Amino acid sequence: MGNKLLIVDDDHLILKMLEDSFAGDEFELFLEKDVDAALRRIMSDRPNVAILDICMPKKSGLEVLQEAKKIDPGLAVIITTGFSSTQNAIEAMKRGAYDYLTKPLDLHKLKSVVNKALECNLLNRKVHYAGRPEQITEAETAEDIMIGSSPEMIEIWKMVGQVADSDAAVLIQGESGTGKELLARAIYNNSRRKNRPFLAVNCAAIPENLLESELFGHEKGAFTDAHARRIGKFEQCNGGTIFLDEIGEMSLANQGKLLRVLEGQEFQRVGGNETVKVDVRVVTATNRSLVNSVKEKQFRIDLFYRLRVVSFFLPSLRDRHEDIPLLINLFLKKFSKKYGKNIKGVAPEAKELLLANPWEGNIRELKNVINSAVVFCKGDILLAEDFSSFLQARSGFREIDLETAGDDYCAVFGKMLEPLFDTICHKNNGMVYENINMGLEKALIRMALGKHNNNQVLAAKLLGISRNTLRDRIERYNIA
Ligand SMILES: Nc1ncnc2c1ncn2[C@@H]1O[C@H](COP(=O)(O)OP(=O)(O)OP(=O)(O)O)[C@@H](O)[C@H]1O
Ligand SMILES: [Mg+2]
Repeated sequence: MGNKLLIVDDDHLILKMLEDSFAGDEFELFLEKDVDAALRRIMSDRPNVAILDICMPKKSGLEVLQEAKKIDPGLAVIITTGFSSTQNAIEAMKRGAYDYLTKPLDLHKLKSVVNKALECNLLNRKVHYAGRPEQITEAETAEDIMIGSSPEMIEIWKMVGQVADSDAAVLIQGESGTGKELLARAIYNNSRRKNRPFLAVNCAAIPENLLESELFGHEKGAFTDAHARRIGKFEQCNGGTIFLDEIGEMSLANQGKLLRVLEGQEFQRVGGNETVKVDVRVVTATNRSLVNSVKEKQFRIDLFYRLRVVSFFLPSLRDRHEDIPLLINLFLKKFSKKYGKNIKGVAPEAKELLLANPWEGNIRELKNVINSAVVFCKGDILLAEDFSSFLQARSGFREIDLETAGDDYCAVFGKMLEPLFDTICHKNNGMVYENINMGLEKALIRMALGKHNNNQVLAAKLLGISRNTLRDRIERYNIA
């Protein structure tokens, strides 16, 4: 018990039939013949799943669907109809229905759809699908939750509900910062393997010649530095899920080795001849287009097909604008709490600025911006000026044609410094050179680390400096 099923139909015979057929199941049932009563029920009892007849007196099922979704965007609604019309079905799915079934109802099928809809709804509640910011609870701001209520994200939640429990390989593609790792964790958290390990390996962060041993382990003496046997990630997460991030960066040689393991679910440690059998689910992610990599012969086509049995594409934040206010609110709560502030919201002009921003760094960028703004905010509302340094710096760059600047950023920085130069000189007399250079270096390092999720190897590679230099600067500038 505990899960709630609402059935709305004006035909009392159908109501009775559905009541009987769901009676023994683990549902608390609500039966309504009237649409307004059904909407009140959604408000008061928050059912998980609703079966809704499209042909109702007073209002059509589609209208009720729309109103129901306004009350609880996470409600999984199954539309039923006596007439099959593609347009109705499309309309229903567009308005956020979970599924669309035609009468006479095949009870077996209906039950299976209801169960899937329930999973999807529970998942939405669990990965905290929150249609309205006020639905985000205190506890949720503490952990890394994944939210979204745009149609694109709803499709993703539905798919997670459908595939989480299977052991199928999952490939997640999307631009940097769109939440690929978070999605990988959501799939894992909702799978049967959730009590077994989840291990993430960033394929780009580990030098090519060490990746094989990282994944599959090695025997003592396998190579010069192999002083003892080492158990690899695949063995460590036996029974669990391995997340291979940045799979697009894997060398062709390692791709071949991975493919063999996926085909047989067995391997040998480097330098060993004992065959190790494992049962590991593989989730991979990349911000490259693997199709292009395959075309350019940088990625093996056979491995590509093996990895993308289930394929997710996370849309960029600019393609799902409606999620921005929701995310702002989540991060606002999260960082207010972190810094012990009591920030209640975002001023309308500030919100406009945020909505208009292109968010090339996607959710990670938005999160960082809200983080800084919360730090700078003096009152209890975030104002446009709390974001201004960030947004101005960006527009400063925008005005200058980066194409014509080539590798010489003198004009770029000149233009940015010009309006501030007098003040800087005044404040830093005798130290201008050192302080500006230091500031630039610090900003660069922060951005590189931010871009690569604090991965030092990748940040150093991006900047073209050694990892030791990077470490030294992180310490020197006290970069957290
Ligand atoms: N839907 C979401 N709801 C809340 N937070 C999110 C969401 N998507 C991403 N984030 C947050 O944004 C940041 C970036 O997410 P994540 O690391 O999963 O992105 P990514 O796609 O793996 O990026 P990259 O390709 O750069 O590795 C993380 O801090 C994550 O918690
Ligand atoms: Mg990532």
